[in-house]
Amino acid sequence: MVQVLVAYSSRTGNTEKLARAVARGAEDAGAAVVCKRAADVTRDDLIAADGLVFGSPVYFGTPTAEMKDLIDRSVGARRKLRNKVGAAFVTGGHHTGGKETTLLAILMAFLIHEMVVVGDPIETGGHYGIAALGTPGEDDERAAGLLGARVADIAGRLKG
Ligand SMILES: Cc1cc2nc3c(=O)[nH]c(=O)nc-3n(C[C@H](O)[C@H](O)[C@H](O)COP(=O)(O)O)c2cc1C
Repeated sequence: MVQVLVAYSSRTGNTEKLARAVARGAEDAGAAVVCKRAADVTRDDLIAADGLVFGSPVYFGTPTAEMKDLIDRSVGARRKLRNKVGAAFVTGGHHTGGKETTLLAILMAFLIHEMVVVGDPIETGGHYGIAALGTPGEDDERAAGLLGARVADIAGRLKG
């Protein structure tokens, strides 16, 4: 069975809401999903997953320190994440305000791990991942679900 890890940082609940929607989408697509806070993610969690979806609030145009700490700790799984699928989601308080730079900061780490990076599907805009303004609404949650399903689908194909 395809395993998807959804890891998120969230202080006031916005990003956690999006994380749950990503997880539901991956589950509905048939994956076994682990959804947990970035601080609780272990090296074993990273290695066990076929698809990794990381989400963070925008803090000064970048991921939170908690998410950056997970990214930095992932060096312990260097060479073990090759060819896993990676995707990202963010929430921010401003209509521009750094959502894309935050998405790309997460995706850059995945590229360094030689992962296969995917963006959100064309139905949701087809860019760098899911980005919600403030508290995610129904459309954001639907988009997050489609991202989760896309990661599960592609991870399944790569797993063969
Ligand atoms: C320290 C700090 C820095 C922030 N910096 C930005 C920012 O640069 N751009 C932005 O759009 N929102 C910024 N925000 C707002 C949060 O990204 C936004 O409220 C987010 O949805 C919070 O997510 P959470 O509910 O999952 O904690 C910042 C919030 C905090 C606390």
